[in-house]
Amino acid sequence: MNIKEALQKTIQQLKQANIATYHIDALLILKDTIKKDDVYVLTNPQKELNDRQIEEIERLTNKRKLRYPMAYITHSKEFYGLEFYVDDRVLIPRPETELIVDVTLKIASDIKNPKIVDIGTGSGCIAITLSKLLDTHITASDISKEALNVAKLNAKRLDADISLINANGLDFLKNGIDIITTNPPYVLENEYELLSEDVKFEPKIALIPPSGNGFIEDLIEKAKQLTKWLIMEIGPSQLKIIKNSRYIYKIIRDFSNKERVAVFKF
Ligand SMILES: C[S@@+](CC[C@H](N)C(=O)[O-])C[C@H]1O[C@@H](n2cnc3c(N)ncnc32)[C@H](O)[C@@H]1O
Repeated sequence: MNIKEALQKTIQQLKQANIATYHIDALLILKDTIKKDDVYVLTNPQKELNDRQIEEIERLTNKRKLRYPMAYITHSKEFYGLEFYVDDRVLIPRPETELIVDVTLKIASDIKNPKIVDIGTGSGCIAITLSKLLDTHITASDISKEALNVAKLNAKRLDADISLINANGLDFLKNGIDIITTNPPYVLENEYELLSEDVKFEPKIALIPPSGNGFIEDLIEKAKQLTKWLIMEIGPSQLKIIKNSRYIYKIIRDFSNKERVAVFKF
């Protein structure tokens, strides 16, 4: 089988499985398998593939047909212009989370040597990006040791100055922090079932807070003893709590006009 035939076959299979992004996904699967770029794949249609490559394309296509996320297949996701390694130990960084970086950069620009901590760092996307853009050390934590291994790998690949701590919530912190950033798990149990199949391959611990909104309320309550600013991603189910807080400074809307990032000033 040559590249053109493999691409056509993969497109066909993904289309039949109702994968909306069948064309681009097929191209990514081909590229990932033969370790070449788009231009090579599209300009070498007659190039014969070996048996190992054909088997690998089949294996990845079957995974994608079950809605396994493309970012886990290619082990790559772009965040704020940086490329992060991802696998199913971590949440796939989302574009709306870049808003946390935007607002933190603005607030940090008025603070001399800002002390910043990122809670629930996952792939490390927020902490690593901030550390690179602010050229400063960032402390990042996660309850999942597996996630921290991915963050460690990304910090090394991207040469970022971060330290990683395995901890539950804010328990490890002492006061004197300028900014705490966090994209905590905020999907409630009853909302989880409604999520798309792709999302269900992501770690549940990254999505569902252990005690529902109590977890978020606890974060805000504890943060006020520790930091001047708390910058937190939220979903619609947290809006009531956020708006009731006397410490809310502003709420930033995402690209679909949903209230997405809450900024608290203590
Ligand atoms: C929504 S993900 C965010 C990951 C990453 N910061 C991002 O924005 O892509 C939430 C992260 O919080 C971590 N987490 C869940 N419960 C936690 C807890 N009690 N303490 C610390 N981290 C926790 C999860 O392991 C997961 O990595």
